[in-house]
Amino acid sequence: MPETRAPRQRRFLVCEPRHFDVQYAINPWMHPDVRVDLDLARNQWQTLIGAYRAHGHTVESVEPVAGLPDMVFAANSALVLEGRVFGSLFHAEQRRPESTAYDTWFKAAGFDVHRPESVCEGEGDLVPVGRHVLAGTGFRTTWQAHREVQEFFGVPVITLQLVDPYFYHLDTALFVLDDDTVAYYPDAFSPGSREVLARLYPNAVLATREDALAFGLNSVSDGLHVFISPTATALADRLADRGYVPVPVDLSEFHKAGGGIKCCTQEIR
Ligand code: ARG
Repeated sequence: MPETRAPRQRRFLVCEPRHFDVQYAINPWMHPDVRVDLDLARNQWQTLIGAYRAHGHTVESVEPVAGLPDMVFAANSALVLEGRVFGSLFHAEQRRPESTAYDTWFKAAGFDVHRPESVCEGEGDLVPVGRHVLAGTGFRTTWQAHREVQEFFGVPVITLQLVDPYFYHLDTALFVLDDDTVAYYPDAFSPGSREVLARLYPNAVLATREDALAFGLNSVSDGLHVFISPTATALADRLADRGYVPVPVDLSEFHKAGGGIKCCTQEIR
């Protein structure tokens, strides 16, 4: 018998894909010789924004900057908790200028921005769940940054080791359903980290490699609806069995850069 679930209204920050492209390769999904259909990308992105608004969420956007083709992936710009902004320091040289563009938006919106000392890619690797922040490392965000995040917010940060280059950010391998439930793909994690996840979330929804490769774990949930890639069908079925309502949104053009729904979405908490 599925439980009754209640959605909570969210405030999202996004960046229009005006200058989106694949011009370099910093993860295994990216092949600069593959063409991006910019019109299709813009339509897909507009569909996502429309779906958020149709479900009662607030969406604000940062002005895109020419020459920053990955800036559309707003999740990487920061972690925002209780109105405090922990900014980003990108691993790849090509993405470093994005931090300044986002910081400008946050400051204009009335937030102070703390700049990290170690490489840290925002919500790409930092996932607040209930009383913890889950933090990925192995490819991008460093464990030193995890310590900085814990010191800054005073919230327990749990380091998780990512081991599969296709799931280079935590948000490609795990997403939050509610304060004590997550969905994830176990093999994206080291054995010890898998055990940590199993202890913390005995009721987690486990996804297959197919679901994960379809960007099914790069989803956004408001507690009831799950904005999810339409090709992650097995995962969507499992979520429906658990009382969630999958809202399929296709961001296939963004998969060419290694990103999906969650990557395009920064949550302002
Ligand atoms: N091309 C980008 C990169 O490799 C994609 C970022 C995806 N963002 C995310 N939150 N997983 O950095």
